[in-house]
Amino acid sequence: MDNPIIFISNGKEVRTFLSPAVTLLDFIRKELNLTGTKEGCREGDCGACTVLVGGIENGGLFYRAVNSCLVPLGMVHGKHLVTIEGVNQKALSPFQEALINEGAIQCGFCTPGIIMSMTGYLLSDRYLSLEGAIDAIGGNICRCTGYEAIKRAVYSFMMESEISLEAGRKRMESLIEKGFLPFSFMNIEQMLKEIAPLKTLSSNGSPEVLFAGGTDLMLKMRDRPPDIHLHFLTEEKEEKIIIEKGFFVLDAGLSVTEMMNSELLKSSFPEFGSYLRLFGSEQIRNMATLGGNIVNASPAADLVNIFLALDATLVLKNKNENREVTLKDFYLGYKQFDKKGSERLSKLRFLLPEGNYFFNYEKISRRQHLDIASVNSSIYMEAEDGFIRKIHISAGGVAPFPLYLKETAQFFKDRQITYENIRDGALIAQSEISPISDIRGSEEYKRLLLRQLLLAHFFKFFPELTISAEILFA
Ligand code: FES
Ligand code: FES
Repeated sequence: MDNPIIFISNGKEVRTFLSPAVTLLDFIRKELNLTGTKEGCREGDCGACTVLVGGIENGGLFYRAVNSCLVPLGMVHGKHLVTIEGVNQKALSPFQEALINEGAIQCGFCTPGIIMSMTGYLLSDRYLSLEGAIDAIGGNICRCTGYEAIKRAVYSFMMESEISLEAGRKRMESLIEKGFLPFSFMNIEQMLKEIAPLKTLSSNGSPEVLFAGGTDLMLKMRDRPPDIHLHFLTEEKEEKIIIEKGFFVLDAGLSVTEMMNSELLKSSFPEFGSYLRLFGSEQIRNMATLGGNIVNASPAADLVNIFLALDATLVLKNKNENREVTLKDFYLGYKQFDKKGSERLSKLRFLLPEGNYFFNYEKISRRQHLDIASVNSSIYMEAEDGFIRKIHISAGGVAPFPLYLKETAQFFKDRQITYENIRDGALIAQSEISPISDIRGSEEYKRLLLRQLLLAHFFKFFPELTISAEILFA
């Protein structure tokens, strides 16, 4: 390879000719000899390997916490890599002091990852809050201290910290002043602007893999050949979510975090961010993409579940040609979908909601957070004078692929909203699915869960509906 990967590591430029497919965690520990970043699960589950990756987005410098065990080296070209060695000045930061004061450190294996997740939150979150700070370290597992002490440290530090609430440059200045970051952070933006983009290399006959967020792909490629050619799809775009001719249009490269932070999506779906809080950890949400979730084709995929109920259409690009296919017709079987080899998922679009509309997403999993759904379901409904005028319903984890409940939606259309109709509709939904018994529950249990989720949708929209024992336990 004659095209070096160039990035800034803890304030200093690094150039390497190693393969872009090398795992970032290995590069940090073995090539940079920065062993403060720990290796735990190597699967994105423990957060021990958390680092920050900063890049220029929408004209400003933006940092995200990521699991370095799931990031290939090529992804950090033109970025600022920050490890635990790159955050401290001469003394401990107020958060590190709080961890010690509250007895939140025993063996210390998880501590660097926790500090990096918290630093990423403080640097990047638009609105700082206690809840947000706790959520930010939700992907960091501690095996020996117990979470109460860690939570106490977060509370005491957040209550006392006087960090600027104004996001962006002001926040960074404040974090430098309070001892969270070294002064070198002030020069990073300029340094990054001077790095030319990584040239797209030809694969030269080596195996080629299209790569977006990689949160699932990196696990599947564990035994990848060293010469594998990763074709990075992540592009910096000004606007990844737009409204065009009455449709929301979403770029396939959108990360889950970008969706959660979108004011445009929130304007129509105020709870969108809270639905996605059930999607992995902060580190995973920062990397995982909309397109990846769709083509990964997990039967319980959270984003697919949501967009099925918004009756979305996919735009597949093949050189200069676009082909459209509805999301509900995209899946053909387990991990099979209507996409030709040379096509790339480019966009997803769905109609702007209208009139008296409701949208809801429900997910049941064995753990509330950081778990795959046993069953999930979304619903979009437009209602008028007590009647359902338009409805789309989805169900995940109950068939070989994410399911649009066609017959159930047809049944509900133009029906009055009564508990008898809801009960009958739930029975139709149960007849449309084909769950299997597995580690996430028995077939009967999943059927029951779907029914309860449908009831939950309706009772959330219409709390005045009479809930009888008959409907709850039939
Ligand atoms: Fe566990 Fe990376 S080592 S998340
Ligand atoms: Fe030992 Fe957290 S202090 S794993």
